[in-house]
Amino acid sequence: MKLTIIGSGSMATALSIGLQKHYELEVVAKDISKAKLLASKLNKPLDIYPLNNYDITGKTILLCVKPYALDEVAANLKGEATSLISILASTPIKTLFDAINAKHIVRAMPNVSAAFGASTTTLVGSHDLKNEALKIFESIGDAFWLKSEKELDIATAIAGSGPAYLALIAEAMMDGGVKQGLQRDDSMKLVRSLFKGFAPLLANSHPALIKDSVMSPAGTTAAGYAALEECGVRDAFIKAIECAYKVTQKK
Ligand SMILES: NC(=O)c1ccc[n+]([C@@H]2O[C@H](COP(=O)([O-])OP(=O)(O)OC[C@H]3O[C@@H](n4cnc5c(N)ncnc54)[C@H](OP(=O)(O)O)[C@@H]3O)[C@@H](O)[C@H]2O)c1
Repeated sequence: MKLTIIGSGSMATALSIGLQKHYELEVVAKDISKAKLLASKLNKPLDIYPLNNYDITGKTILLCVKPYALDEVAANLKGEATSLISILASTPIKTLFDAINAKHIVRAMPNVSAAFGASTTTLVGSHDLKNEALKIFESIGDAFWLKSEKELDIATAIAGSGPAYLALIAEAMMDGGVKQGLQRDDSMKLVRSLFKGFAPLLANSHPALIKDSVMSPAGTTAAGYAALEECGVRDAFIKAIECAYKVTQKK
């Protein structure tokens, strides 16, 4: 099956790298040189087409441009796509239907881990496209069908933005190790390994139980954990999800 990716930025590249093993791909882009850069990161050749007057008839489209570019992109397309899967944040299905001719539309919110086959993707939209869209994103990680666009916008604040939040935690822990005298390289190796080892723990247990299993009375973890609570880390994360969600509602 062939997927047509419109766009050639970070997410178009991450998705292409992940999807190339499972699908035939073609890329449609405003700037052909950027599409060539994307193609250079893949293991197999890719057809590249200019956006200008591109015919989407009968195609399954993965729309990966900036939300503000929707109208300009739509004006350059002709025909009617069979399926449109949009990863545009803050862009409701109605807006997509108004802009682009497509029989079925699904909104998907993947993340940059798609390049490693480890995206967390949430989806919502046309039920006729549900199974196909889930299959596409399950080929590059976990995919969850949600009940409403509101839920997808909340999920965007967790799983779409999430890699940036976890990167902040990772970097802060590395810096903490260096502050106490650990070599930067060693600190980095430890944090990378910690995240790798934490994934199976979280997959098999509740966060509160993981915490309880590590924290002994008056021990090192209890001291560190108390410092995190004093600094309001829990509140900060709840607020971060709230602020990110609010931005998805602005446009
Ligand atoms: N980054 C994430 O983690 C993430 C996660 C989930 C969803 N998203 C969504 O993914 C989409 C792409 O984000 P990104 O991070 O990949 O951004 P990006 O790297 O800046 O790429 C944006 C793409 O949009 C194209 N574009 C911008 N203006 C255009 C126009 N007027 N006409 C045609 N193409 C235009 C760009 O083409 P040129 O470079 O040629 O201008 C580029 O291919 C966004 O809608 C975002 O909401 C992002």
